[in-house]
Amino acid sequence: MNNHYPALIENALERYLPSLDCRERKLIESMRYSLEAGGKRVRPMLVLAFNALCGGKTKAALPFACAVEMIHTYSLIHDDLPCMDDDDLRRGKPSNHKAFGEDTALLAGDALQTLAFEILTSDETAALVGDAACRKAVNALARYAGCIGMAGGQMIDLESENTNAPFEVIQDLVGKKTACLLQAACELGCISANADEAKITAASAYGRAIGFAFQIQDDILDCTSTDEELGKPVGSDEENHKSTFVSIVGINECRRMVDAYTAQAIGALRQFGGNTNALSHFALDLAKRKK
Ligand code: IPE
Ligand code: IPE
Ligand code: MG
Ligand code: MG
Ligand code: MG
Repeated sequence: MNNHYPALIENALERYLPSLDCRERKLIESMRYSLEAGGKRVRPMLVLAFNALCGGKTKAALPFACAVEMIHTYSLIHDDLPCMDDDDLRRGKPSNHKAFGEDTALLAGDALQTLAFEILTSDETAALVGDAACRKAVNALARYAGCIGMAGGQMIDLESENTNAPFEVIQDLVGKKTACLLQAACELGCISANADEAKITAASAYGRAIGFAFQIQDDILDCTSTDEELGKPVGSDEENHKSTFVSIVGINECRRMVDAYTAQAIGALRQFGGNTNALSHFALDLAKRKK
């Protein structure tokens, strides 16, 4: 992956955040707190990488990259709330509601979500990629983040607590709560480069496969890592009686599944003519990640 990407992403996120100089200062501080807490930036990196693979301009991909990271950060703030996973540590710091209170954390999530769509529909973004690409991106992101995407997956996740959810239900919940947003990132990268449908479909297949690998690895790390290394509380899934692939097939089978989904993701890159090494290596690195 291009080693200029992390700095480009951090600078662009900073630029899009509203100034603190207003009456709503506490809300903006809490949005900044979670956004700047140092996540891995997997989703914005995917946006930039697929944009480059489709021959796009990085500058045109940055608003799309920031929008996806804002939706992701909102999902983490809400995921940690006492009414959901009730976790007090995120990205190595106290969770948003621990630092700012539940009321502000709820609003910070809401406002990050709307800021994402504000950025995608701004005149500045439209001037970079055109109105048609903006509309397509907004539609894809809203769909993947919504009731049959990430939010829907979170619903299934909560409803599957304390049940012996079967394999197909866990597949559905992981596909929605995690893979959907990774698919959105990959598709938005292509859309920001005005790529054709065949490329968008292939990018989506890559995103879906790494999405499954990513969540299964997350569930493995929840059982095998430490709070310090992971930056979030380990053992949270067991404590909440979550239904995960680990809870039904065990860690060894899960490791095999991570490798299989990673191979599937790399296979999806065959559709692209250019150099796909960076995205192949990215998938392999994610499969081995420790945090
Ligand atoms: C955590 O996502 C939530 C899952 C979908 C497993 P990340 O592991 O990408 O979290 P950050 O962005 O690095 O904090
Ligand atoms: C959450 O899955 C995925 C989201 C949509 C936020 P988890 O609940 O396993 O994520 P972590 O482990 O808290 O990051
Ligand atoms: Mg959760
Ligand atoms: Mg959680
Ligand atoms: Mg987890």
